[in-house]
Amino acid sequence: MVLSKDFLWGGATAANQAEGGVLEGGRKLSNVDLLPYGPDRKKVAAGDMEMLEWQEGYYYPAKEAIDMYYRYMDDIQLFAEMGFKVYRMSLSWSRIFPDGDDSEPNEEGLAFYEAIFKELKKYNIEPLVTIAHFDVPLHLIKEYGGWKNRILVDFYTRYAKTVINRYKGLVKYWLTINEINILLHQPFVGGGIVFEEWDNKQEIKYQAAHHQLVASALATKIAHEVDPENMVGCMLAGGSHYPYTCRPEDYQESINRDREGYFFIDVQARGKYPNYALKKFERENLTIQMEAEDKDILAASPVDFVTFSYYCSRTVSAHPSDYEEATGNLFPSIKNKHLASTEWGWQIDPLGLRNSLNQMYDRYQKPLFIVENGLGAFDVPNENGYVEDDYRINYLKKHIQALKDAVEIDGVELLGYTTWGCVDLVSASTGQMSKRYGFIYVDRDDEGNGTLERTKKKSFGWYKKVIASNGEEL
Ligand code: BG6
Repeated sequence: MVLSKDFLWGGATAANQAEGGVLEGGRKLSNVDLLPYGPDRKKVAAGDMEMLEWQEGYYYPAKEAIDMYYRYMDDIQLFAEMGFKVYRMSLSWSRIFPDGDDSEPNEEGLAFYEAIFKELKKYNIEPLVTIAHFDVPLHLIKEYGGWKNRILVDFYTRYAKTVINRYKGLVKYWLTINEINILLHQPFVGGGIVFEEWDNKQEIKYQAAHHQLVASALATKIAHEVDPENMVGCMLAGGSHYPYTCRPEDYQESINRDREGYFFIDVQARGKYPNYALKKFERENLTIQMEAEDKDILAASPVDFVTFSYYCSRTVSAHPSDYEEATGNLFPSIKNKHLASTEWGWQIDPLGLRNSLNQMYDRYQKPLFIVENGLGAFDVPNENGYVEDDYRINYLKKHIQALKDAVEIDGVELLGYTTWGCVDLVSASTGQMSKRYGFIYVDRDDEGNGTLERTKKKSFGWYKKVIASNGEEL
């Protein structure tokens, strides 16, 4: 058998894309509740269009999402039926600290997640909990400007301390901040940042990044103090960059672009800023305020394991305008003529997963965990309401084979694999429901119509077999 018997198979969701109930149980709004469906979503996500309240004429898919707030018991039962060993989920910050700067946490919010963890325990499913998955309480944005303000370190740390203490014994695996490098590409989503016209965007983004890195290290320290059994990970929006040609300057560009993301993980896994980043700040005249104690904070608490999402690889060139652009990607990328694309233009590359695993294992020498992977596709139920998603099975099969190769042939240490959106949920980039990843179909459309009823797809039975055979039967 290629994978160890305690390999963690499962699926992943995020609070804002699944729960709904955004004003239930004392919860208040956060940044992601304000991302509208439609063409303005991108501008809001990038912090280039202010939307700090629900506005007339827009539809906000997070409001109800897939109603997991009320249906989590049924969903967990289905995950258990597939044989999940782990379920990756996130906590909604504003469910626990509705304004973010409240003096006391909201007991109803804490109790809600406690009930989820107890339900998971019933089925022996290990929770893997992301403390912040694209989630900043709205009040922290309006009052303090989001993560560009150092004070967020204190608010986040208090929030982390509260949940780590409260769920001691129920949760062992923690991720501090989801896809931390998204901050550079979608600053409102990643950091609750809305720009003014005159802002030095680069400087603000890297300042916010510094705050998140310090906060993440402090959360790691707290987790270790509360329970030495706790395992804390960082989380990267992964996918390596290929040079479009073998021209040395294209290769150099691929290194630089990889570094944009690895910058965060270098700090979180190694406990210090890499020299190339410090040189970049100097060269680009970016003044990043760091407190005297920050160096020690970062050095004292590197993460225990490194996690990442993987959907596609990316291709770059020193002369990008000479080539056709790949569509649908947050990261500017050139179309790779050797790869097929999803219906959203993400380029499908299973071997790229193995390559990324190797690159990251070489770089960090820490256990890895693939916490997101999957195929976003339009699913069309047949006349019996059944989705025969062989395309999804095919995609996952190849990616699982690639991770097995990385373990078996290359010796990468891999803790587990959670597919993204194991139950259909709202797409982060587009706000669509029709961009589906799940093994479980949710009856809901892009405009919010539908019964929200859950139906197993063909991939449900397939994944169940994969887990039961520990990845031997694909
Ligand atoms: C990652 C996020 O970026 O990719 C998820 O962590 C997101 O929140 C997932 O949903 C897939 O992206 P999308 O845009 O297809 O939902």
